[in-house]
Amino acid sequence: MDYAQLVRQIEALAEAERWYVPLLANASAALYDALPDLNWAGFYLVRDGALVLGPFQGKVACIHIRAGRGVCGTALAEDRTVRVPDVHAFPGHIACDSASRSEIVVPLRAGGGVAAVLDLDSPLPDRFDARDQAGLEDVVRALERSIRFD
Ligand code: SME
Repeated sequence: MDYAQLVRQIEALAEAERWYVPLLANASAALYDALPDLNWAGFYLVRDGALVLGPFQGKVACIHIRAGRGVCGTALAEDRTVRVPDVHAFPGHIACDSASRSEIVVPLRAGGGVAAVLDLDSPLPDRFDARDQAGLEDVVRALERSIRFD
């Protein structure tokens, strides 16, 4: 996967519109389209210390996730990327789609803390490697440079 190309695409989208709703909607579409073997790609937004479902591509998903719960809540609570090669082996994993086998969640920081998380799910075990992690963190850094939440 050419993540540099994806970063350029995100930068172009951010040039067109910085407000988080259209920017994260198009970013989730770009990710879902560009990356093979995904069954969900999108964002959860931080509100009152918990996560609420934001723009995404894929099946209907759970709406509220508390900090520390599941893969997304762990990424929020610990402010770090969480890469899970086998979701069945992750304690507390929240199964929105039973087809999901592996997952990666990357925190997006704004205004001095985590403002959202990027969540990608795959039906393949061990879909995301260290290179994917670095590339997706670059994508999130590109979003952080432009995104506006107000
Ligand atoms: N599996 C996630 C929940 C979100 S869905 O995958 C879209 C988790 O454990 O946090």
